[in-house]
Amino acid sequence: MKLLIKGGRVIDPAQGIDEITDVLVENGIIVQVGADISSEGAEVFQASGKLVCPGFIDMHVHLREPGLEAKETIATGTRAAAAGGFASVACMPNTLPVADNRAVINFIRNQAQAEGVVNVWPIGAITKGSQGKELAEIGDMFYSGAKAISDDGHPVMNGEVMRCAMDYAKMFDLPIISHCEDLNLAAGGNMNEGLTSVVLGLQGIPAAAEEVMVARDIILARLTGCKLHICHVSTAGSVELVRQAKKEGLPVTAEVTPHHLTLTEKAVEGYDPSTKVNPPLRSLEDVAALKKGLQDGTIDCIVTDHAPHTVEEKAVEYGHAPCGIVGLETAVPLVWQALVIEGVLTPAQLVEKFTVKPAGILGLDRGTLIPGKPADITILDETAEETVDVNSFYSKGKNSPYHGWKLKCLPVATIVGGKVVMTDGKLTKSMEERI
Ligand code: DOR
Ligand code: ZN
Ligand code: ZN
Repeated sequence: MKLLIKGGRVIDPAQGIDEITDVLVENGIIVQVGADISSEGAEVFQASGKLVCPGFIDMHVHLREPGLEAKETIATGTRAAAAGGFASVACMPNTLPVADNRAVINFIRNQAQAEGVVNVWPIGAITKGSQGKELAEIGDMFYSGAKAISDDGHPVMNGEVMRCAMDYAKMFDLPIISHCEDLNLAAGGNMNEGLTSVVLGLQGIPAAAEEVMVARDIILARLTGCKLHICHVSTAGSVELVRQAKKEGLPVTAEVTPHHLTLTEKAVEGYDPSTKVNPPLRSLEDVAALKKGLQDGTIDCIVTDHAPHTVEEKAVEYGHAPCGIVGLETAVPLVWQALVIEGVLTPAQLVEKFTVKPAGILGLDRGTLIPGKPADITILDETAEETVDVNSFYSKGKNSPYHGWKLKCLPVATIVGGKVVMTDGKLTKSMEERI
């Protein structure tokens, strides 16, 4: 099976390629990137006027299976990923039961194999039940395919437990992905602490609730030598802490979400529960610092933190709604607007944050179009526009604050292991029929 992607602007930051050329795929593998490749015996994908990139990787999503299938399943979540231009997702372990042992990791991998339409890389828990007390079966999960460990949704509040987790994870060269939140400082909070929270009468979560934990984890990474990845960085202070850690040469990386780049605490003014997220939407100054962090390389990658909830769970008073925003089907055009159109990043720099960077952090043999690699490819149309309609999402989660927004630069094809799984925003027929 040969597939020739013809005449697109091929952007592969790992190889320093940004030019109009062709890509040839054979039996699921990239075989050639170059001009005027013969189309003999190949199916041709006309890509002129489009951007042809390595398959995008979202290293922070919540697929909710097992146990929370009313919110999302591996089938629906991976379809949402394909529709959004992602060829790979790494899924967080806050399922029911928590993915804190080999059996759950194996279940996720098997289910992804059977019903998923993109690559799924499981992340195991740091502690049993993500309770922050006893270490999970870290080695066992590593040997069954976990690519990182995280108690995302919860912090590991006990510093001694985190130190032991780091000592352990280091033996397997597994990164620890840390949800940084001091639960005492954040207690009772529903949004960012500041003038807006006072005016709205909602209890605030101070920036310090995140920053003290970022600082602690950086200090523990220095002590243990473990790879540390900071989840959903949301404050200027956190960006600065990561910047200093990198300057010092510590093995620290960081991610940011589209919602923390495109919205501020002002979005909470209508008390719309779809704006409730953890960490909360912050100030304009924080957003500026996050962009600066992306620009100077302090922040390595962009992730959605796709966190679906049911309509019923979200349709309650602000204070009672669960935290989370769905992101897979809006992320790429949102950040194209906020970062590329607004001149923060070049297209190649943006592509890097979705490909070679997350691949490097998780140790995946992906994120580039180097011949010999699996043919995961994302194709974007800079000129395509669409108005967001949550009812047309493949995701079961409709909790998006972007409903009704007009977005530009849409993913128009997702190719996974040489198979075209999405074109023009719709799953291809063979993929629709997988379950
Ligand atoms: O907003 C959030 N939702 N933040 C988290 O850390 C967890 C996530 C979820 O699982 O819903
Ligand atoms: Zn989190
Ligand atoms: Zn998360």
